[in-house]
Amino acid sequence: MIDIHSHILPETDDGAVNLEESLAMGRQEAEGGTTVVFATSHIYNATELKRGYEYVEKVAELQSQFDKEGVAIKLATGAEVFPMMEIMEAVNAGVPITLGDKKKHILLDLPLGQWPMTLSGLSFELLAAGITPILAHPERTMPVQGSLDILKPLLERGVLCQVNAGSLLGKYGPQAQKRGHQLLALQWAQFVATDMHHPSSNGASLKRAKDTLSELPPRYVEEITLKNPERVLNGAYVPTVEYDRLDAKPEKKGLIGRLFGRK
Ligand SMILES: [Fe+2]
Repeated sequence: MIDIHSHILPETDDGAVNLEESLAMGRQEAEGGTTVVFATSHIYNATELKRGYEYVEKVAELQSQFDKEGVAIKLATGAEVFPMMEIMEAVNAGVPITLGDKKKHILLDLPLGQWPMTLSGLSFELLAAGITPILAHPERTMPVQGSLDILKPLLERGVLCQVNAGSLLGKYGPQAQKRGHQLLALQWAQFVATDMHHPSSNGASLKRAKDTLSELPPRYVEEITLKNPERVLNGAYVPTVEYDRLDAKPEKKGLIGRLFGRK
């Protein structure tokens, strides 16, 4: 498996507090079958957007610690960026904030409360520039918990979605869990990732999340845990949601009905 969303870099944001935690997180996910982890530390504002190649160097430093300590994980660079129009300027200036610095995909943070006003316009500009936005954990946000329909205009345009492993496991409550599983049952999401901030007390979260998906087509589960992340790693095209799937009503799907009732 390949994890496109983590806060594994030590002393950088609200993730790993020190090298020991980073090593523990890497070791834990490797034991669960993950081979590559993107280090996507938060970028909350325009000042932080100026972060340059020192970030890439920090990831390389952590990689050498992993290699030295026998942690079988390859790290890739990235960021989880709050949606702001200044992103375009940073991308054009060559700031390494896209996933793997491939200038093909960018992970956009979604605040849990209000839907970001900039999201639509920013997505349009990014797509026009050949960079596909990936929405981080939409299932955790209040607007998406209200209705999945808010995602449709973005998905129609080619924006991608990433569901958190923790959501599938119930870490953020029943509504996030329900919406996370719905996004996968509808095949509206292209990725499951950990968004890990610290080592888990229950073992590798990506593996445990994958274990909850036995009712989904195995081929789709492989796409969202390995194939699509691999495409991101290689800077390749990730297939967008199939257009006719967007017309599906989640509440009326048989699988969803069985799993979560009709609400
Ligand atoms: Fe995150």
